[in-house]
Parts: sequence; structure tokens; C-alpha cells
Amino acid sequence: MEWIELDNGFNIPQLGYGTFQLKAGEVYDNVRCALENGYRMIDTAASYFNEQEIGRAIRDSGIPREEIVISTKVWVQDTGYEQTKKAFERSLENLQTGYIDIYLIHQPYGDYYGSWKAMGELYRAGRIKAIGVCNFCTERLIDLTLNAEIPPMIDQVELHPFFQQKRLYATLPKTCRIEAWGPLNEGQRNIFANPVLKYIADRHHKTVAQVVLRWLLEQGIIAIPRSGKSDHQKENIDHSDPLTVRILNTDHIHE
Ligand SMILES: NC(=O)c1ccc[n+]([C@@H]2O[C@H](COP(=O)([O-])OP(=O)(O)OC[C@H]3O[C@@H](n4cnc5c(N)ncnc54)[C@H](OP(=O)(O)O)[C@@H]3O)[C@@H](O)[C@H]2O)c1
Repeated sequence: MEWIELDNGFNIPQLGYGTFQLKAGEVYDNVRCALENGYRMIDTAASYFNEQEIGRAIRDSGIPREEIVISTKVWVQDTGYEQTKKAFERSLENLQTGYIDIYLIHQPYGDYYGSWKAMGELYRAGRIKAIGVCNFCTERLIDLTLNAEIPPMIDQVELHPFFQQKRLYATLPKTCRIEAWGPLNEGQRNIFANPVLKYIADRHHKTVAQVVLRWLLEQGIIAIPRSGKSDHQKENIDHSDPLTVRILNTDHIHE
């Protein structure tokens, strides 16, 4: 398991487990399985409506709470100072925890400056260990970084070989890490049979998923692949044999 340090010195696993679109009623088992397979960071959101199942899975796993990084998000309807404070308390209750490790603004809409103020206070009070945003383009990220007392430590954005976010990567404030959502392009566009990725994977005796995830990790990007299958979960977290795929010229990867 590789770890990565955020701007405030908080260390998190560089590879976590995504929980978007996991089926209600199955999330509990999926998360228990992911924890058994070695994942120690779970990404959720108020809008996924699965925080309760995840909270139960974490509690029942028997793994000490402080060994698991929980990341959740404030949804668009809850932007603004007061609303965000209430949404935060709801997430705590759902997750049955006394603190959140990573709290993110889910979308760059509404009064997100109000949300950020609330999150900064919760952070200073020790109730959140790191704060960040999602889906912020370069301009919005730099604006918030320059104008807030605490800069965003994470920007969680769509990022995979077909959508590489090169501009965001090139202009990223030093205080911020990129976290890739949809790192496997949600399984779309036939990614697992892409000829370029397949060629690289075969040459390294790896799978396409492993090549893509390694490519992300070697760029210092955090990744949170989701899988409802134990063998895929294991495959995705198995990076014991680094590949050094940084030299991959990803410009040649087309759908
Ligand atoms: N902040 C945001 O706005 C935002 C938006 C979207 C997602 N997210 C977060 O990012 C996480 C990851 O993104 P995502 O869930 O959209 O998509 P993803 O992780 O890119 O892809 C998930 C898909 O890939 C398949 N898969 C996973 N590992 C595989 C493997 N080794 N071999 C073959 N297929 C594999 C899964 O199927 P199986 O279940 O069959 O393995 C599933 O269909 C989410 O779960 C969520 O936590 C955040």
C-alpha cells in the first residue's frame, strides 16, 4: 500500500475504494470485502445515499477507526455556511463516526465559499482532517486557493487515459493533490480491451486496470477505483510489482 502526504502533513492511502453506484443492500458487503482485501480509504458522498451502510461495514469490520480514512462530500443543495454545517452532522450520524477524515465540496455550484468557511471551522476544530473540492477546473481551484485561508488539499476530478486533465495537472497549486474519480472510465468505451493499454498490459504481465492505476499513482495522483467484485478489488490494489509506466505516451490512446 502506497501512502501520499497532503499539504497539511496528513498521510492517506494513494489508492482507495470508490462506492458510487454500488447497489443499495450490497454496499455493506462490498465495503466489508474491500476492507478484507486491504483497502483503507473509502470514498463516499451524501448524494450516494450509502453512508449508513458504509458506517456499519466499517464498524463491523473490527478494524480500528483511526486506521481507515473516510472521505465524504457535501452535495449541491447543502452548499452555504449553515447548510454545510448541518450536512456535515448528518454525514457523521450516518457514518457513525466522531470525525471525517476528508470532507469535499461535491460540485462547484452554489455558495461554495460559504461551505468552505464552514469546513474551515470544522477542520480547525479537529472534526475533519483534510478538506478539499471536487470537479473544480483550474480557474475555480486557483481562485479558492488564493482567496481562502485554508487552501483545498484535494481536487477530486474525472481523470483516466481518455480524459487526462493535463491543464489542471500543469497548473495545480502546490497545496493541492489531484484525486482521480472514474479512474477506469467507469468501465466505459471498452477501456479494458483498448489495444494500446492491452499491449502494455500484456508486455508487463499485468491487466489493463493495473496499468491504468499504476500510471495514475506514478504521477502522484490519488485513485479510488470501484468494484463490486472481490477479484477485481484485489487486482486493483495489487501493486506490489511497480511497472514504471510513466513513459507511456498517453496521447496515442484513443477510444
Ligand atoms: N466527485 C465526483 O463527482 C465523483 C463522480 C463519480 C465517481 N466518484 C468517485 O470515484 C469512484 C470511482 O469512479 P467510478 O465508480 O465512477 O468508476 P471506475 O472506478 O472508473 O469504474 C468502475 C467500473 O469498472 C469496473 N472494474 C473495476 N475494476 C475492474 C477490473 N479490475 N477489471 C474489470 N473491470 C473493473 C467495475 O465493474 P465491477 O464492479 O464488475 O468490477 C465498474 O463497472 C466512485 O465510486 C466514487 O467514489 C466521484
